[in-house]
Amino acid sequence: MANEDSYNWTHKDLLDTKELSQEDLQHLLDLAAQFQVINKRPVKKVPTLKGKTVILFFVEDSTRTKTSFDVAAKRLSADTFALGRSGSSLNKGESLKDTGLTLQAMNPDVIVIRHSSSGAAEYLAKLLPASIVNGGDGWHAHPTQALLDTFSLRQAWSNNFFGKTLLILGDIAHSRVARSNIQLLRKLGVNIRLCAPRTLLPAGVEHWPVEVYPELASAVRDVDAVMCLRLQLERQQAGLLPDLSEYSRRFCLDQKHLGLAAPDVRVLHPGPMNRGLEIASSVADSPHCLVLDQVAAGVAVRMAVLFLLTQCREGRKNAPD
Ligand code: NCD
Repeated sequence: MANEDSYNWTHKDLLDTKELSQEDLQHLLDLAAQFQVINKRPVKKVPTLKGKTVILFFVEDSTRTKTSFDVAAKRLSADTFALGRSGSSLNKGESLKDTGLTLQAMNPDVIVIRHSSSGAAEYLAKLLPASIVNGGDGWHAHPTQALLDTFSLRQAWSNNFFGKTLLILGDIAHSRVARSNIQLLRKLGVNIRLCAPRTLLPAGVEHWPVEVYPELASAVRDVDAVMCLRLQLERQQAGLLPDLSEYSRRFCLDQKHLGLAAPDVRVLHPGPMNRGLEIASSVADSPHCLVLDQVAAGVAVRMAVLFLLTQCREGRKNAPD
């Protein structure tokens, strides 16, 4: 448990996993564990953020991230307002700057933004006094997804990360989830393997702190966890993947390949899953799969993030009982 007396969260915003120290990370995950206890009670609401306002500004589609930020804020008694591209003046050509300034004029405490452009969250963070949380920006970063993945693995691995091996499988080139997870899990001493067709590996991957495997059978051998990634067809140029059935034959995580991993291997997927394309249905429904634990962890982790960004700026340090 982080030392409550000496610890101080100093970040106005959460834009990236890079900015988190080991101490921030441990404190945030410990806090999320406390919120998870609250989430399992019959009455799940605490008054901690009463009077605070959280705006969910999601310019890209989302099921899990948007809903869980909304649930997280409401469980802490904050008021939430959602704004998307459709139904907003972005559709009438309003700039991100003007939309941001308009939202700020309503004096929110936190704005969670999801945007297709890398750097959109950082742009708002520099422009606005509200705390900005990056809910996913282009290919760049998705810090709360990496935090909830880490939280799920921490539970599965009883907080022993060092020397464990995680395979990230699939469309890594277009994945903000992969980038944020690699940064965070390397800090905890997890070895990372990547496996993808050459066209779905990021440029410059040879400089990343990972091992790259072209074949799934060798990549999955003895790993402690596999993170399957969705093919980000909406971000791909034509021609990167000429044949989806060939892709699934070579890179879909099925029972046969999972049998090559460590016996108690865990399977993660940020969702939404394409069953039969990157993950076999039988694997998605198997006891190895943590997908629904990840969703539950998402609420607790986002409660911790909202708490730290608001209450700790005002000098409160402890989660409510
Ligand atoms: C991911 C995202 O949007 O980056 N999903 C999520 O947040 N749960 C991954 C994806 O869309 O494939």
